[in-house]
Amino acid sequence: MKTRYSLGNWKMNHFKKDVLHFIDNFKPQSHCHVQIGIAPQLQHAHYFQNREIWLGAQNCSQYDSGAYTGEASACSLAAEGFHFCLIGHSERRQYFQETNEICLEKIKATQRAGLYSVYCIGESLEQYQAGQTQEILKEQIKSGLDGELDFTKLLIAYEPIWAIGTGKVPSLETIEQTLKFIQNCTEQDFQQQVPTLYGGSVSSQNIQSLSEIACLNGVLVGGASLKAEEFSSICSAL
Ligand code: PGA
Repeated sequence: MKTRYSLGNWKMNHFKKDVLHFIDNFKPQSHCHVQIGIAPQLQHAHYFQNREIWLGAQNCSQYDSGAYTGEASACSLAAEGFHFCLIGHSERRQYFQETNEICLEKIKATQRAGLYSVYCIGESLEQYQAGQTQEILKEQIKSGLDGELDFTKLLIAYEPIWAIGTGKVPSLETIEQTLKFIQNCTEQDFQQQVPTLYGGSVSSQNIQSLSEIACLNGVLVGGASLKAEEFSSICSAL
């Protein structure tokens, strides 16, 4: 069976006590084909070191070292035992002006460090309503990736911006079609197959039906990954 990924993006949430409570109560039924990961705030990363789950960062610098106050380099993350880094999450694009070109530089930095990159792409509500989803995704793939990357260290997360934190989820047919579209794009542009995740209001309520989508290689979970019981159910359902 192909590996499926269940990755939690904790964003800027949780204090120490919440992290410890999570760790005590997170008990997914283990399936060997499911790779679980959590991207906490960096100051909480040490609670996840040397555990079976993958440790992720929510962002990294495109530079390897130097005078870049406030940044964290991919190679220093790798040296601390991180496994993956989210790149180009829509909140980074929206609030921190990350472009597809910057995302490509960051993906290259994670690859120099030997980390997996989880490249996040997705359309806004206006673009969705205007029927521009495929055009937007195609551009994000074309400009955010290039043929020299190591595609064995890359995952793509399709996250419609209008589905993030809203409780709204596209229909299963739409998700399936869109994931296939993304997979076709990477095959056409780079002759590579890339595992493709869905993200946006994933919960214990909808994971069962989402997991029936054959071409779904996993999920990227925000709010629902903060609660141990909820995230355990999601990981177990995959
Ligand atoms: P959500 O967030 O699951 O809370 O919608 C997903 C994400 O932002 O990665």
